[in-house]
Amino acid sequence: MKALGIVGSYRKGGINDTAVEAILQGVASAGAATEKIFLADQTIRFCNNCRNCMQEPGTDPGPCVLEDDVPGLIHKCLQSDILILSSPVNFGSMTAVSKAFLERLACLAYWPWGTPAPQFRKIPGKRLAVLVTSSAAPALASRLGGFHSLADLGKIAETLNAEVVAKLHYGLIALKHETSLSQSQRAAAIRLGSCLADLSKEGWVGKLKLRAIRAVAQSDLPQLPYVGPAFDRIASIPFRRTGR
Ligand SMILES: Cc1cc2nc3c(=O)[nH]c(=O)nc-3n(C[C@H](O)[C@H](O)[C@H](O)COP(=O)(O)O)c2cc1C
Repeated sequence: MKALGIVGSYRKGGINDTAVEAILQGVASAGAATEKIFLADQTIRFCNNCRNCMQEPGTDPGPCVLEDDVPGLIHKCLQSDILILSSPVNFGSMTAVSKAFLERLACLAYWPWGTPAPQFRKIPGKRLAVLVTSSAAPALASRLGGFHSLADLGKIAETLNAEVVAKLHYGLIALKHETSLSQSQRAAAIRLGSCLADLSKEGWVGKLKLRAIRAVAQSDLPQLPYVGPAFDRIASIPFRRTGR
């Protein structure tokens, strides 16, 4: 099993970086290979709308005329079973570098000249995705529809044929210059990662468990004590019944 974390923040050691790192740590503890990529470290040129990559049918990404790191990045995404996609909220939506990456995923659609709209290519294999975002405003703003970063990251997941199984929004995080996840949030994110690795085996019970941990992992009150173990106990009851 392979997990790839993509950080769309410009800040190493910030909220998105530490959240992705913690989730990957959890996935790794379950035996998966992990890798983290900072989009800002990659050479990502802007899509120029030539649609060269969209002309031929098929399940492989279409050939892009631009020479940069994106084809390699897409290859890594498609080779992964788990994607952790992250971006802070900047002016209400995901960061520019994340959007530039999303636009370059056009090669995963088929849209020949003369047809009115693109169709997603039928990418083989299914992957799971976790979406991570953060903002100065409370996470509640995201749930009330005020921010678009999670929806934007969801488009990356959809284009890469990844099923979104958890969304995390860390709110109220921009009060200090140096900021990172609290210990309790980090612990919950690690737990979420290990749960994620088990998800394919555990089916709907795994999804329930993940949802419970997600609620703990994202909190507007980072100083709350970590109550994850209590959730874990509740969520693991069905496993005992089935002898797991
Ligand atoms: C250019 C810019 C725009 C921002 N826009 C918003 C915003 O619209 N709403 C908000 O709540 N926070 C906003 N923020 C705060 C960031 O969301 C916050 O600093 C970020 O989540 C930190 O993530 P990181 O630690 O991963 O870098 C903005 C920050 C910057 C630098």
